[in-house]
Amino acid sequence: MSKRFTVLVVDDEESTRGFLHSVLTVEGYDCQLADSLEAAEILLRQSRIDLALVDLYLGTANGLNVLDLLKVIQPQCKCVVMTAHATVETVARSLSGGALEYLSKPLLIDDLLALVRKVQSARPSLTKEIASEEPFPETAIIGRSAKMLEVYRAIARVAASTASVLITGASGTGKELVARAIHAHSDRAHKPFMPINCGAFSETLLESELFGYEKGAFTGADTNHPGLFEAAHGGTIFLDEISETKTGFQVNLLRAVQEQQVRRVGSNKYIPIDVRILAASNCDLEALIQAGAFREDLYYRLSVVTIHLPTLAERHEDIPPLIHHFLKRSNVRNKRDIQITSDAVQFLSNMPWPGNVRELENFIERLAIFCASGEIGVADVEREAGGKRQPHPAVAGNGPAPTLQEMERQHILRVLQEAEGNKSKAARALGIERKTLYEKARRLGIDLQANKR
Ligand SMILES: Nc1ncnc2c1ncn2[C@@H]1O[C@H](COP(=O)(O)OP(=O)(O)OP(=O)(O)O)[C@@H](O)[C@H]1O
Ligand SMILES: [Mg+2]
Repeated sequence: MSKRFTVLVVDDEESTRGFLHSVLTVEGYDCQLADSLEAAEILLRQSRIDLALVDLYLGTANGLNVLDLLKVIQPQCKCVVMTAHATVETVARSLSGGALEYLSKPLLIDDLLALVRKVQSARPSLTKEIASEEPFPETAIIGRSAKMLEVYRAIARVAASTASVLITGASGTGKELVARAIHAHSDRAHKPFMPINCGAFSETLLESELFGYEKGAFTGADTNHPGLFEAAHGGTIFLDEISETKTGFQVNLLRAVQEQQVRRVGSNKYIPIDVRILAASNCDLEALIQAGAFREDLYYRLSVVTIHLPTLAERHEDIPPLIHHFLKRSNVRNKRDIQITSDAVQFLSNMPWPGNVRELENFIERLAIFCASGEIGVADVEREAGGKRQPHPAVAGNGPAPTLQEMERQHILRVLQEAEGNKSKAARALGIERKTLYEKARRLGIDLQANKR
């Protein structure tokens, strides 16, 4: 077959069409251009296209309609969606609508060409995608950094399957939000989503919560009680802080997940279950496995897919949109109309956020509540932040740069001092849960008692 690989570019922006045309023709591809849905349809009906590069926003038309056209006119044609406004919804919709990939604008030539080559060399049979006509519900995950786009892609890819997903990332990075998004974008969305914080229960309580119990199984068990596995039938269970579980419990959990059945405590009858498992951890499970505190077999079972969430420090560019999002939400909630100056946004973007998005969220909420003038300025941020902005003792001076762990330790010690050893207050100021503070203190060798006045 001598016919060249043909790429159709559908974009209403002339500059993008021109750019893609030159890049693709230089590389030896046959490139056709369409500036609208209608123009694309005409070209698709005229000649065979191998790959369509489609802008999501075609003026008033929706680029996803091109996917529908493709299904009818040229089902073999692959499609890549492009947009400057990536959200988890648009990525998920594109991918589940049949798009092969999702590219964020501005386009990077290398990424684009790598993708075109990949499509060119892919066997046609490998590209069947999961199709769903269901519109996706809203899940507000904010951020358009490359790292978050990666997360959206992963969510979109795994949502439709029943694979177990392990969500990792530091405290406050949005692990639960991602778990909810996976559930909301799956075909289990209309069934229950049941989160359980494994760190909040003792081993036996956790077992009776998850597996249920029979009347008389233990003192206080005065009725039959179905566990979460039964209650979540058809839906999703989110095992938060899975690292906090004991190995005895892990054995039972693994068995339930593997055999897809549970036995209530005090019963010998097995009950079939149909649940999808999502788990989250903010510490390094592989290190726990090494230390013998986490079962490797369970780890492999839970981490069929792993989604890692970046810290805010790794995606600075997401801070301004997050600030605006939280401020808007606070305004709606409190029926106010507080604004923020761009200097204040800039200032906030340069502050450290060890408690990640949760800390930023709490901070914006506080700023909005205490803002009397109607506009948050740098002075308000400084006042509210107190000493937060000054360099950490470990950073000041000319010595070698401290490790991240040391900085975290110093920061926690300082906040504890400011909170006069009050752990709840310190956890709040750090934007983390009290339990997380304990965990960090243990890991970083901070004596919480010694820091109490
Ligand atoms: N990308 C994001 N966009 C909008 N809100 C976010 C984002 N990430 C996190 N949040 C918000 O920050 C808070 C913390 O998120 P979440 O509870 O999902 O974090 P987590 O990783 O589970 O933290 P932890 O390990 O402390 O439990 C929530 O209120 C959540 O709505
Ligand atoms: Mg959480």
